[in-house]
Amino acid sequence: MSGSIERVDNRIIVSGELHDLHRLLAYIHIIVQKLGYQDVLLDLQHCTIAYQNSMLSVCAQVSAYREGGISFRLIAPTSQLLGNLFKNTNWGYFIDPHQFPPSTFKGHTRVPATQYRNPTEQQSAVNRIVNVILGAIPELERADFAAFEWAVNEITDNVLVHSESKIGGLVQVSTFVKFKKRVQFVVADAGVGIPTSLRGGHPEIQTDGEALDRAIREGVTRDPSVGQGNGLFGSFQICSKSMGDFLVDSGYARLKFDPNKGLHIQNQTVPYSGTLVVATVDFSDPKLLEEALRFKGIKYAPVDFVETKYTANAAGDIHFKLTEESLSFGSRVSGKPVQNKLLNLAKMCSGVVWIDFVDVPILSSSFADEAFGKLFLSLGPVRFMQKIRLHNMSDIVEGLVNKAIAQRMQTGMSDADS
Ligand SMILES: Nc1ncnc2c1ncn2[C@@H]1O[C@H](COP(=O)(O)OP(=O)(O)O)[C@@H](O)[C@H]1O
Ligand SMILES: [Mg+2]
Repeated sequence: MSGSIERVDNRIIVSGELHDLHRLLAYIHIIVQKLGYQDVLLDLQHCTIAYQNSMLSVCAQVSAYREGGISFRLIAPTSQLLGNLFKNTNWGYFIDPHQFPPSTFKGHTRVPATQYRNPTEQQSAVNRIVNVILGAIPELERADFAAFEWAVNEITDNVLVHSESKIGGLVQVSTFVKFKKRVQFVVADAGVGIPTSLRGGHPEIQTDGEALDRAIREGVTRDPSVGQGNGLFGSFQICSKSMGDFLVDSGYARLKFDPNKGLHIQNQTVPYSGTLVVATVDFSDPKLLEEALRFKGIKYAPVDFVETKYTANAAGDIHFKLTEESLSFGSRVSGKPVQNKLLNLAKMCSGVVWIDFVDVPILSSSFADEAFGKLFLSLGPVRFMQKIRLHNMSDIVEGLVNKAIAQRMQTGMSDADS
């Protein structure tokens, strides 16, 4: 890890890897509060690596300063990879909206930074996240997936219920190329922070570190008439039991869990004015999370996205409308998440999956192969016939899907991208 952060007047210059988030935020604080500048220049042209955990909190803090009348200009990284990341993830947009338009990224494995200010926006952000993850991670167990959804809901909800953040919250989600079954979600706000909030109901809490320690325990809430104190506790359980990691930055403290090093709470000399939660869930060990959610000793099974979005009847049949699941039917890249989703849903539901082809006039052979040919091969003919129903197909589409399945049966999964 090598990188440096310097300040010259109102210019903050980041070189190499950006990892010292607190320092960066401290410089912004000095420029605005101590030196009285109304504008800040973030010079990241020589920055080579930046991660969503730091960047999302920078975005939240910068947005909050902007609401307070401070303007920011970003010099984007010249590294093409990182430069594109700044566009696709919305980091550019949240730091310097005059220069960067909102991201139009249509990727199938990540969700760009998304702002939400009320429960409706929060719900739509959470839905988008679970929808992407259902198509990105293969062979998910329903209980595991439901636990993940529950955690995203709880952590994003906390911002609206407790933080008093003027910009609401930002949420972003990534998957990993190397660890195919890992998902990391980050939620950042620029509100009062957990220590201040929790002390409202627990004045006996002394340090900020103690506040974070208490906040992740079962039943700890600032106000029992508002909350139950399960959100941070359950999310921490999900991450730690799955051998993922968990980090909270708030006020003058950082709480960090890492499966190799365990749980650590450190005091910070520079505060984080708001709350940042970084949660990594690992789905490698199936059904592990089924047991992770226990409150007062009782196993908890949340109502999930599969139930609310797809389940059509009491038998557990699923209605999968293809036009709602993919923006295009032309490529392998867009066929892959459809395949993953159908595999996941076939495994998760007790009934059959009705794939509705209504309003799909045509699809490409590569899409058909990726979505249905490989699905057929993965499930096998008997399971495919038991679990999958295709309806409302035009003759052309039926012909294309037929051909894709027939060819896939001949070639097997032998090609490189299977
Ligand atoms: N984003 C946040 N901003 C400020 N305070 C928070 C935030 N998230 C959690 N907290 C504090 O931590 C406490 C515990 O949170 P949680 O475990 O989700 O339980 P609950 O929301 O039911 O109170 C909250 O009562 C609140 O005081
Ligand atoms: Mg909560």
